Amino acid sequence: MIEPLLKVQNLSRHFGSASAPVRAVDDVSFEIANGETLGLVGESGCGKTSLVRTLLKLGPATSGSALLDGVDITTASGRRLHELRRKMQVVFQDPYQSLNPRMRVDRLISEPWALHPGVVPKSNWREETVKLLESVGLRAEHADRYPSEFSGGQRQRLGIARALALNPTLLVCDEPVSALDVSVQAQVINLLAGLRRERNLAMLFVAHDLAVVRHVSDRVMVMYLGRIIETGPKQSIFGAAAHPYTQALMSAVPTPDPRRRAQRKRIVLQGDLPSPANPPSGCRFRTRCWKATSICAEQEPALIARTEAPGLLTACHHAGPEIANEIPRLEET
Ligand SMILES: Nc1ncnc2c1ncn2[C@@H]1O[C@H](COP(=O)(O)OP(=O)(O)OP(=O)(O)O)[C@@H](O)[C@H]1O
Ligand SMILES: [Mg+2]
Repeated sequence: MIEPLLKVQNLSRHFGSASAPVRAVDDVSFEIANGETLGLVGESGCGKTSLVRTLLKLGPATSGSALLDGVDITTASGRRLHELRRKMQVVFQDPYQSLNPRMRVDRLISEPWALHPGVVPKSNWREETVKLLESVGLRAEHADRYPSEFSGGQRQRLGIARALALNPTLLVCDEPVSALDVSVQAQVINLLAGLRRERNLAMLFVAHDLAVVRHVSDRVMVMYLGRIIETGPKQSIFGAAAHPYTQALMSAVPTPDPRRRAQRKRIVLQGDLPSPANPPSGCRFRTRCWKATSICAEQEPALIARTEAPGLLTACHHAGPEIANEIPRLEET
């Protein structure tokens, strides 16, 4: 059996006091294979960034483990943690904040090599910097400029170049294009998709925009109030989601197919996301679900395999295909 690149088991990240914690990430388990892109979606506040930050060890895990190449990120320290950081790099949402404005681009890009000696000898820094800049669609002369001299899209390209400097095996992208103009979002997405193929990079890709997630992901994971409520290959999630919450999310994605567009109803979720400090009993989605019955308040549904579509796992007592006339809260799209 081939071990996955990343193996996350029962990982939790709680904030605040132990007596009344905010359960930002609550007992999640998943894997990412070498070279695979896993898309992560869910409403604002469902715990995506908290999960990402825990995996990057920017904050402590409350419990559980996350093995990268067999080494537990949550307990690693010293040399092991240093090595994990080389293998796992991140592209954040805001390229304005993540690049030090006082550093020239050549220093920004070569800084990781100074922190991880042995990856690229100093005599090759200039040459390797130029190669990296070109690989993200920038040019050699950009090496002598400062971040403020670049557009938003170019800055995100710089952030990507810097993230790739250490040749990571896993690239974590948290909303990498949501701060950019719509006109440049597609360029950056296509750049990431190309780099991923060329370098056989595995990616954890967080995004609000489901059309973007569909474009880049192999598999998709849907979070709600700190839990994974559905996951599967992208075709299964986008074509045959069995969880009402996923179905609601999907109903807002524009479809190019005019026949499907005509058939489809927009499911408008009622109410706000409940507080992760005080999640509903049983199924956390039940307070907004049109299928909810008494069992949903009593028992938390397990994430289990479905027969609707290959590889689909769903946590719902009433999981099943979306049937438009069963959905009471509808709006025509
Ligand atoms: N440092 C913190 N201290 C306390 N609570 C936090 C902290 N960081 C996040 N939270 C809470 O954890 C929950 C999850 O937040 P998180 O930022 O992970 O969500 P998200 O899915 O990334 O949202 P968005 O889509 O808006 O980026 C929220 O209720 C948030 O208020
Ligand atoms: Mg976030």
